Amino acid sequence: MHATAPAPDRRSTLLFGRPGSHDDAQRLGEAVARTWHTTPYSSQPDIPLSIVASLALIPVKDHPGDIARTINEACDQHLVRGLREVWIHHWAQRPELAPAFAPMMAWLTKKVPSDLARSVRKVVETCLQHGLLEMTGSSDPGERSQVDVLSWTLTELRSPGARQRLGEFHTPPQVSQLIANVAVDGLPPAGERFLEPAGGSGGLFRALAQRLRELGGDPADYEWVLVELDGLAAAAAAVNAIVWGLGPRVVVARGDALRDPQVAERAGAAGVQLRAERDSILARVATIEGVRRVIDLVERAAEGHLP
Ligand SMILES: C[S@@+](CC[C@H](N)C(=O)[O-])C[C@H]1O[C@@H](n2cnc3c(N)ncnc32)[C@H](O)[C@@H]1O
Repeated sequence: MHATAPAPDRRSTLLFGRPGSHDDAQRLGEAVARTWHTTPYSSQPDIPLSIVASLALIPVKDHPGDIARTINEACDQHLVRGLREVWIHHWAQRPELAPAFAPMMAWLTKKVPSDLARSVRKVVETCLQHGLLEMTGSSDPGERSQVDVLSWTLTELRSPGARQRLGEFHTPPQVSQLIANVAVDGLPPAGERFLEPAGGSGGLFRALAQRLRELGGDPADYEWVLVELDGLAAAAAAVNAIVWGLGPRVVVARGDALRDPQVAERAGAAGVQLRAERDSILARVATIEGVRRVIDLVERAAEGHLP
């Protein structure tokens, strides 16, 4: 990887010490929105939200300093490629969530021009300076569930008019925690389902997951079903489900919970289908790779290169 220019040390420089509070997450969201609004792409909130999500989803955990260094040394286009690879990794791991992710991945399916790649770098640098990797980079899902960075980022990126129209005022985290503590006063049996019919980015699920952990449970033992009208909020919820360690039984349905009561059921069935398709693709790739290796072996044997 090549650095674009000899740059000053842009290592993950925290502005506010060790991050992790809701105030830190809010400051991050505000800073991302401010940075994005200085770019020519300010009318596309999906891009900075996708950048924050992609950085939060980097699968290598517990090494924020090394990751920041790699990012800082990459040129703009390699940085974009890295963000795209994180999405592809999670598409392969969690195909049932891919339809919900889609609005955040769309811009990465096209060629990214150099001025957009420069704008992407600005947002990435803002995220590093505000400690995003420290907020989401632990291998412990409980640590990663301290805050909802995507909720703050999405809220800050919306125009006040859009916020009003969507009624998108996510419940303050302290209030969600209070609700979760009252709703769950003993550890529910494993397999129980939690349902959020107007779920936003999943703030209530975060509070419930933390409550379950507090009671000695593991959120991954439960089923989580969320319906959300807005595509970006639903995408944020799907990302959060992974970041917060909600486990393998998560359904995020984009739709109208009032007008279409079957929307979650259909999304769940589609998810089962998508997992089966993913498995079949991987099996075919494995078969092709196996055949390729056998051919290679035969050729080496024919040429007398085998012991
Ligand atoms: C006030 S926010 C609350 C979000 C979340 N429950 C929380 O506590 O943070 C309301 C959310 O519900 C979504 N919403 C509103 N009407 C809906 C509907 N009929 N079906 C699904 N989602 C809906 C909005 O897009 C918005 O994200």
